[in-house]
Amino acid sequence: MIVKATDEYLALLNQAVAREIQVSAQYMLQHTKMEKLKRKVIKENYLLESTTYDEFGALLKELAITEMKHLAQIMERIYILGGEATTKPEKVVIGNSMREFAELNLRAEEEALDLYRHIIEAAKGIGDRETWVMFSKIYSDEEEHLLKFQDYSEMENEPNLGETPDSEWRSIFGEEYVALLNKALASEISAVVQYTTQHEKAEGLERMRRKKNALEVITGKNKASVVSGVLKETFLQEMDHMEKIAERIYEIDRESIATVDPLPEVGNSVNDFIKLDRKAENYAIVLYRKVIAEATRLGDIKTKKLFEEIIQDEESHYWSFDDFLP
Ligand SMILES: [Fe+2]
Ligand SMILES: [Fe+2]
Ligand SMILES: [Fe+2]
Ligand SMILES: [Fe+2]
Repeated sequence: MIVKATDEYLALLNQAVAREIQVSAQYMLQHTKMEKLKRKVIKENYLLESTTYDEFGALLKELAITEMKHLAQIMERIYILGGEATTKPEKVVIGNSMREFAELNLRAEEEALDLYRHIIEAAKGIGDRETWVMFSKIYSDEEEHLLKFQDYSEMENEPNLGETPDSEWRSIFGEEYVALLNKALASEISAVVQYTTQHEKAEGLERMRRKKNALEVITGKNKASVVSGVLKETFLQEMDHMEKIAERIYEIDRESIATVDPLPEVGNSVNDFIKLDRKAENYAIVLYRKVIAEATRLGDIKTKKLFEEIIQDEESHYWSFDDFLP
């Protein structure tokens, strides 16, 4: 019998989940904002500065993926312990300069370290060895992140970015249009969280389940594990969409807003997952058609092309979930 987890203990683990969703989105959006910061760099310093921007940008993406992996592990553990993982992140804050990114992230990592020390103690307290070992590993990752952000937060002479002069072509992208693009971004974040959660839940269910027959034991394959694999591939693509949409928003010189909308719906069985995922893809397809129509109307060719590509992916996601309907 695995360790008995109280509601308080599971709530503590869910605080970790909320943090990991937050930092994963935060670092990814900062990564996509880097190009925008870079464009504003003083020309004389360009070569020198652009290397720093590129390095920090690459680091942010790498860390966003690490945080996503932490998130997945913690969620899986919660399901194995019989709990339900939250899909609500802590508030994402992005910042306006490399130094600001680094300072915000430094604080996020410090807070994570505090929380994770607390979790390690609690896990020891109830003899939950798996969780304690897992968080000890995560802890050392976070410590490494903290040190990296520390370097950048001490950076001096970062050029002052100031305001960009308004160009005529940018002014055609009004608030409503930007809100529509941010709605698309929110639906990608929602899909990433929903599919990651379901993927981990399926893995958790799979590990708990007794194998039904000899063939299953040998191949280790059943519907849950096949769907879990599909979910993994799908959420990686949604991450890519999220990155591209946020990049585009920064390209037209607006701010990305990291919300999770609609609220992810996880479900309790593989058949639930599939139904809810078809619904999510359907929502995205309808919304993105609207984006394409607006982009066409405004002559925003690049956004139009981007969403035409994304919508093709969403359609194939829709049909791949449809294949598993009972
Ligand atoms: Fe993390
Ligand atoms: Fe971290
Ligand atoms: Fe997507
Ligand atoms: Fe999708």
